[in-house]
Amino acid sequence: MQTDFLVIGSGIAGLSFALKAAERFPEKQVLILTKASADETNTKYAQGGIAVVNDPENDSFEKHIEDTLIAGDGLCNPQVVEFVVKEGPERVKEIIEWGARFDKDEEGDYKRGREGGHSEFRILHHKDATGMEIERALLQAVSRKKNITILKHCFVIDLITQHHLGYLVTKSTPDIECYGVYVLNLESQKIEKILSRITLLATGGSGQVYRTTTNPAIATGDGIAMVYRAKGRVENMEFIQFHPTALYEPGVRGQAFLITEAVRGEGAVLRNKSGEAFMAKYDERRDLAPRDIVARAIDNEMKKTGAEFVWLDCRPVGEERFKDHFPNIYARCRTLGIDVAKDMIPVSPAAHYCCGGVKTDEWGRTSIRHLYACGECASTGLHGANRLASNSLLEALVFAHRCFVHASQTIENITFRTDIPDWNAEGTSEPKEMILITQSLKELQQLMSDYVGIVRNNIRLQRAMRRLDLLWEETEQLYESATLSPQLLELRNMITVGYLIVKGAIFRKESRGLHYNTDYPYKSHIVQNIVL
Ligand code: FAD
Ligand code: SIN
Repeated sequence: MQTDFLVIGSGIAGLSFALKAAERFPEKQVLILTKASADETNTKYAQGGIAVVNDPENDSFEKHIEDTLIAGDGLCNPQVVEFVVKEGPERVKEIIEWGARFDKDEEGDYKRGREGGHSEFRILHHKDATGMEIERALLQAVSRKKNITILKHCFVIDLITQHHLGYLVTKSTPDIECYGVYVLNLESQKIEKILSRITLLATGGSGQVYRTTTNPAIATGDGIAMVYRAKGRVENMEFIQFHPTALYEPGVRGQAFLITEAVRGEGAVLRNKSGEAFMAKYDERRDLAPRDIVARAIDNEMKKTGAEFVWLDCRPVGEERFKDHFPNIYARCRTLGIDVAKDMIPVSPAAHYCCGGVKTDEWGRTSIRHLYACGECASTGLHGANRLASNSLLEALVFAHRCFVHASQTIENITFRTDIPDWNAEGTSEPKEMILITQSLKELQQLMSDYVGIVRNNIRLQRAMRRLDLLWEETEQLYESATLSPQLLELRNMITVGYLIVKGAIFRKESRGLHYNTDYPYKSHIVQNIVL
């Protein structure tokens, strides 16, 4: 199979790129691959909304830029921050034209929410289900384009580069090129080869590396692991954002339900076990401090009191306002017997967002030729050491556009390779014990949560690395001998991502943004990205 534009991922990043490419080149083919159903993405679960300057009377580009830089704790690329913020309104206008609806008041003005680290109310939203609305609108727009095909349940295994032609490819090989991908078709169980002229990686996040995460099961960092295996550049993986307020449900592993930060934007307050509103002790911005600060404060309160959660007191919001703005959270709490008008919600931090990822330039180009990356899998320089709330959907839109602009200028000069070998599955057989994969996955998630969580230290990081080495060795043996399954491929990718997080954390001998190491509690005067 071959296609002009190959898009890996059907979230906001992949779909918005695909729409633009299809529109600009009606004679070319755009193929979107997704390993699950088309809408099963991190995008679908986004709640709070999209941060964009849209109120000239009270807000300005300068304020949004400053908020982003402050949250990023000295590590954002200021040029990137500036163009993302300034290009944001135009990109948001486009998704509105594609059909995404954001809440408006009676006068027809957009309602604006506020979240941690924002100095103004600027977040456009669709109730508490913004991502679901965006995903719906984009998929519908895609379905109207004749030259876009979506192949669901197609698991991309690896990027095809010179390595697959028998050349030695290392980190110092100049001009590594991407010719397409190998894909495990989960319906036919066959491994196929798809050649492309331009490939866009839009594979999203990696929250599943941790025991508790707000991310769905698809978020296993596949794109980041693929690029690392292909000897491309990955950076700043130590900056894993923990969302302060995931719903605490005893015994629940995996995906935790999010209580959006916008609830605190509307006046909800965090309280510890004794009912004390503790955030004033940690930061003058209290409950609306940037996420790294709030998550660390909660972690500290939980450690001090021995509690497994803190309380989110939503009573100041008022029941009617809560029900109107957050109907899904209201309903979910109801099913658990929590009446937000009277009861407080138990919450604890959960892995939420990967600020680092595949290193790109300002046009979304990776270190591998013809391979672009955008959305959560990319590290563009926008987020620095800590992403500002609701800047992720914005970044995905702006960079999808930039990838499109650049790819449009180069595609005509790229030809297909005709000498790519088929996948070689010789010598592999069905694994005898699938349970080993499940057990290794649990071990990985446990060790990452225990040793590489919100607060880290050198001993814990070294421990994590030793355990990861063992898991890696065992999983590679399995990979060499077993018929490939999505479970095995995801485990392998997640171990790689875990390794990159720990490696970045070990290299970073300071505490900055989301990376807090008690052995180096201060910021270093050397400001650097850790490129792996
Ligand atoms: P995704 O939307 O995650 O899409 C990834 C796609 O890649 C999927 O289609 C997946 O199947 C595919 N894929 C992955 N690996 C493979 C593979 N090997 N083969 C084939 N396909 C593959 N951000 C905000 O800005 N505002 C918010 O309010 C907000 N709320 C959030 C709430 C929750 C609960 C979560 C989890 C995240 C939230 N975020 C929010 C973050 C934001 O939603 C994500 O960062 C963003 O949606 C990522 O979009 P994406 O297109 O990069 O990836
Ligand atoms: C939230 O709604 O709290 C999540 C927003 C985000 O991750 O940007």
